Amino acid sequence: MNEILDTMHARRAVKHFDAGHEMPGETLAAILHAARTAPTAFNIQNWRFLVVRDPAVRAAIKAVAWNQPQIEECSALIVLCADMHAYAKDPGRYWKDAPEAMREKYVSMITQYYENNPAMQRDEAFRSAGMAAYALMMAAAAFGYDTCPMDGFDFEQVAEIVRLPRDHALVMFVAIGKGMGDLPPHGGRIADADIIAYDRF
Ligand SMILES: Cc1cc2nc3c(=O)[nH]c(=O)nc-3n(C[C@H](O)[C@H](O)[C@H](O)COP(=O)(O)O)c2cc1C
Repeated sequence: MNEILDTMHARRAVKHFDAGHEMPGETLAAILHAARTAPTAFNIQNWRFLVVRDPAVRAAIKAVAWNQPQIEECSALIVLCADMHAYAKDPGRYWKDAPEAMREKYVSMITQYYENNPAMQRDEAFRSAGMAAYALMMAAAAFGYDTCPMDGFDFEQVAEIVRLPRDHALVMFVAIGKGMGDLPPHGGRIADADIIAYDRF
């Protein structure tokens, strides 16, 4: 197997992190920078990464997240969000490096696709941020860090705590740090045949 597959198979959702470990700022920056390689429809780059550093904000979040220890123990707590109105915010910047005709074509497609379609704006937000979450997790692993994807929290209360803009969706957390302690037994994976279908259900 190659390194990417090894990393994918070795990854576990960590339940405890070394609270004493400090992640160098440049490492966090590099992990976030790598997460930006996650794909988005029309290259709209609608994911937003909120890094929660303030211990008081972490404590407030933990209190509405079943007191899960990862929230305070992790070295970096990333709140994955998506801007549901990214399509309308200067969309030319998503194609800034492309030739003008191509940029104009994409801006027009972006507008047609999302305008007056709030369900699509929200669905796409979750699709994009979900991909970015896994990209974050793989990038963290490349730097020797463990992760825990999390949605065990009260979405409304967390939105209030982090002052989530009204046009953003709160998708999930990715806690990143040095895993500690024994992992609980794994639930196991159901058989490939149970999840893979061909042509029609
Ligand atoms: C969307 C999502 C939400 C999750 N929320 C939590 C959580 O709040 N707390 C937690 O400890 N693990 C959480 N997990 C981790 C899962 O429990 C874990 O991925 C699953 O049991 C499989 O284990 P593995 O990731 O170690 O293979 C979450 C995973 C996903 C994808």
